Amino acid sequence: MTNKIKSLRGEIIVPGDKSISHRAVMLGALAEGTTEITHFLQGGDCLSTIHCFRQMGITIENDPEENKVTVRGKGLHGLRQPLETLDVGNSGTTMRLMSGILSGQTFDTIITGDASIQKRPMGRIITPLSQMGATIESIPGGGLAPLHVLGRKDTLLHGIHYNSPVASAQVKSSVLLAGLYADGPTSVTEPNVSRNHTELMLKMLGADIKASNTTATICPNPKLTAGKIEVPGDISSAAYFIAAGLIVPGSQLTIKNVGINPTRDGILRVCKQMGADIRIENIRNTDTEAVGDIIVSYSELKGTEIGGSIIPTLIDEIPIIAIMACFAKGQTIIKDAGELKVKESNRIDVMVNNLSRMGADIMATEDGMIINGGLPLRGAAVDSKLDHRIAMSFTIAGLVSEGPVEILGAECVNISYPTFYKDLEGLME
Ligand code: S3P
Repeated sequence: MTNKIKSLRGEIIVPGDKSISHRAVMLGALAEGTTEITHFLQGGDCLSTIHCFRQMGITIENDPEENKVTVRGKGLHGLRQPLETLDVGNSGTTMRLMSGILSGQTFDTIITGDASIQKRPMGRIITPLSQMGATIESIPGGGLAPLHVLGRKDTLLHGIHYNSPVASAQVKSSVLLAGLYADGPTSVTEPNVSRNHTELMLKMLGADIKASNTTATICPNPKLTAGKIEVPGDISSAAYFIAAGLIVPGSQLTIKNVGINPTRDGILRVCKQMGADIRIENIRNTDTEAVGDIIVSYSELKGTEIGGSIIPTLIDEIPIIAIMACFAKGQTIIKDAGELKVKESNRIDVMVNNLSRMGADIMATEDGMIINGGLPLRGAAVDSKLDHRIAMSFTIAGLVSEGPVEILGAECVNISYPTFYKDLEGLME
């Protein structure tokens, strides 16, 4: 990526939210009737979800030109046994949420994914789903995929109260989705609130679900009714342009139609803490998935401390926050973020290794990193480890580094943002 640019200016609409796109296909499949999804994310992960549900007999039409997906739902009990192994590709969300749904089916399935997925912990869903009476075998052992999910026999799953040791929307959602097939209410309490898209969408489609603070409770066997789902722009994708607008001198950007659900908006709060010139306008849909336009201008940033309950609300943005911290005055401490080690790559190690190569003053800690900002970053070859968020973060770093940044595996942005490089180029002056 060249870094001979003056500034970034203009307006952009980022692709649809990845988490919401996944859920729209899954819940659309379990609903009765036709669900029309607009601004669907055409990223590799969401296409994996479509593929898996097609394998289970659901008719799904995808118009990639219009980003419009139509799901012909067959109700809670309408999935059929796939003829082959379900392949989730790189998508942890597909693997974990779908395991919850599959636990409630009467047929057996095997689910697998790529090399990264096969290293990621699935014990975190196997444990609660087993407590509900599901039988899930880790084929290689150690709670790793491929997973063999056995169909339940005559009995329903059992409603449980699960105290999750991690704040993870994937774990919470997996258990709540299994709760659709239980004999009584199922609830999940997590240490801090994670993204609540599953709860909001289930409610919208007619499920009996309640959430208060860190606990969500679902009652079984609702009739889910298909509807229209307009996917907001993905704040996790917007984050790269927010950061670019803040660190490339002379920039001013408007990112339109971004999801600003309070369980996802930690990046906005951190930018303000860092002294950013950032504002949200035109806020709408606040009773479902809140949406707004984000206006960001180049700012002199200062270091900050990030930890505790804000972490789940910005977990996927930590790589790009680390890049911003390199351009901030003073120290940034990121803690309570041990979950970064089990994402698509070990994001603590990968950020620290790559930023160190570029000359940053950065140190890994047990559950995060410490960055002393202000040193110029030099160009370097960095390895994305095929992690889309790492590739996009270093592309932004490359806009302001002294010398170009060469990103190994740069094409992995296709997972969540296929048009990322083109969209970025469109803003360059
Ligand atoms: C997601 C939840 C988060 C996030 C992931 C998407 C989801 O993972 O990192 O990119 O859609 O539920 P965890 O639940 O593992 O924290």
